[in-house]
Amino acid sequence: MLLCIITVTSSFASFIHGVQPEHLSEVVRNRSKRMILDSIGVGLVGSTTRVFNIALQYCQLYASNAVSSVYGRKGLKLSPTLAAFTNGIAAHSMDFDDTWHPATHPSGAVLPALLAASQMLPPSSKPNGLDFLLAFNVGIEVQGRLMRFSTEAHNIPKRFHPPSVVGTMGSAAATAKLLSLNVTQCAHALAIAASLAGAPMANAATQAKPLHIGNATRLGLEAALLAAWGMEASPLILDDIPGCSGFSAFYGDYRPKPLPLPANSHEFLLEKQDVAFKRFPAHLGMHWIVDAAVSVRNLLINYSGSFSPSLIHAIVLRIPVSKYINRPFPASEHQARHSFQFNACTALLDGKVGLNSFTDGCIHRRELTELLAKVLVEHPEDNIANFDKMYGEVALVLENGDVLTGRCDTFYGHWRKPLSRESLLNKFRSNASHVLPDNKVNSIIATVDNLENLPDSSQLASSL
Ligand SMILES: *[C@@H]1O[C@H](CO)[C@@H](O)[C@H](O)[C@H]1NC(C)=O
Ligand SMILES: *[C@@H]1O[C@H](CO)[C@@H](O)[C@H](O)[C@H]1NC(C)=O
Ligand SMILES: *[C@@H]1O[C@H](CO)[C@@H](O)[C@H](O)[C@H]1NC(C)=O
Ligand SMILES: *[C@@H]1O[C@H](CO)[C@@H](O)[C@H](O)[C@H]1NC(C)=O
Ligand SMILES: *[C@@H]1O[C@H](CO)[C@@H](O)[C@H](O)[C@H]1NC(C)=O
Repeated sequence: MLLCIITVTSSFASFIHGVQPEHLSEVVRNRSKRMILDSIGVGLVGSTTRVFNIALQYCQLYASNAVSSVYGRKGLKLSPTLAAFTNGIAAHSMDFDDTWHPATHPSGAVLPALLAASQMLPPSSKPNGLDFLLAFNVGIEVQGRLMRFSTEAHNIPKRFHPPSVVGTMGSAAATAKLLSLNVTQCAHALAIAASLAGAPMANAATQAKPLHIGNATRLGLEAALLAAWGMEASPLILDDIPGCSGFSAFYGDYRPKPLPLPANSHEFLLEKQDVAFKRFPAHLGMHWIVDAAVSVRNLLINYSGSFSPSLIHAIVLRIPVSKYINRPFPASEHQARHSFQFNACTALLDGKVGLNSFTDGCIHRRELTELLAKVLVEHPEDNIANFDKMYGEVALVLENGDVLTGRCDTFYGHWRKPLSRESLLNKFRSNASHVLPDNKVNSIIATVDNLENLPDSSQLASSL
């Protein structure tokens, strides 16, 4: 019998089981608390969307063991898995949640599972706030590690929507940690989660996209619960076994490496690579093109005294190749959130993009349709579909032949230009106060700020 062989899968299981609160540096604690607060805020405002309401109705059909809270629905409880599902949908309902590099939405797949699980556990074994923060970071870390096993995963995806793949694994890992599963059970939780993962990219820019995050957080939670109750699955799920796919089924170029056991210190990926927070509810790529469009709009105003579309002969967008966000005439809210053309033209017309830009009235405006008809798309070779490298450029070719150009390399909110604490709190306040009174909003901010010292982490979920 071979003993002591470190497989990738067992190394991940040992990591999840072994990592301790002292491994979280101050930077990681601060960054992850920003993610938690932002994710709750976009989830709270997301509880006003149509897709959330459909999902909630569906979940109420199955509401038994209703102990877990739902964003923006004081007094309503669902079973833990369905609460996680609806809250995950809320977080991604407007495509307003955080984005990481390599590309995924890390928090939305993890936080709802942890909130739901914290309320499910009996009073005698409630995890405290520090356990909760550690479990959250385990869920983020596992997603980051898995994405680094594939070059394909570094770029804006083409096959599977990343949250439905790594998000499910992250949710399982985080929940396994919160439930204090043993090493064997942690490995089974990951393996079971792999069987529940994966949704195709073609559903991005549809109402089903938020379901990917709802499912990821829910199914990861279910995988950890199944493992806790004794279900077993492949002990080699993360290893690359030629001829029989494990997690490699999701990537064409999967090259996994063992995850070192945290010794005295562990550097979390979040330490090296912060997330991006969105300033308006649309795909992350839109943030570059909107800032470029706003700056060229200002140039035109300077040039001619006002913004008059009649001066514009053509609008050239210089963007990376990414099929699902290249949509010349989006017809629905979800398509509009994934259209370079729509976001550039809205920013030209209005000087900004916001929550209201995605209403039917705004999407189908005649002035906007006229601008969209002037758009030409170019794909410069140096503009690649990668959130760490891409840029946005908007050139206005005027009727008189003059050309004005606006460009954005790094928008405010990207990890290279992080939102200030004030901007982050402003976003949270304006989003959360849509569904909660001011005193509640302030108490959530204080709870997340002080998460390390919270005696019972389920207090966070019950304050939503
Ligand atoms: C973490 O956040 C606290 C409170 O906002 C701040 O005082 C501290 O400087 C931050 N630490 C780091 C390393 O960013
Ligand atoms: C993990 O827990 C299960 C169920 O209690 C038990 O059968 C198994 O031996 C444990 N494994 C380890 C490594 O502790
Ligand atoms: C959600 O999960 C269920 C159960 O695994 C699966 O049948 C369904 O296809 C998933 N849907 C989406 C949109 O991810
Ligand atoms: C507009 O023109 C003024 C005066 O020429 C200049 O100071 C300002 O920076 C210009 N603004 C933009 C956006 O180019
Ligand atoms: C949510 O926050 C964003 C960014 O601050 C803001 O534009 C938006 O209006 C907020 N949503 C609501 C409903 O207030």
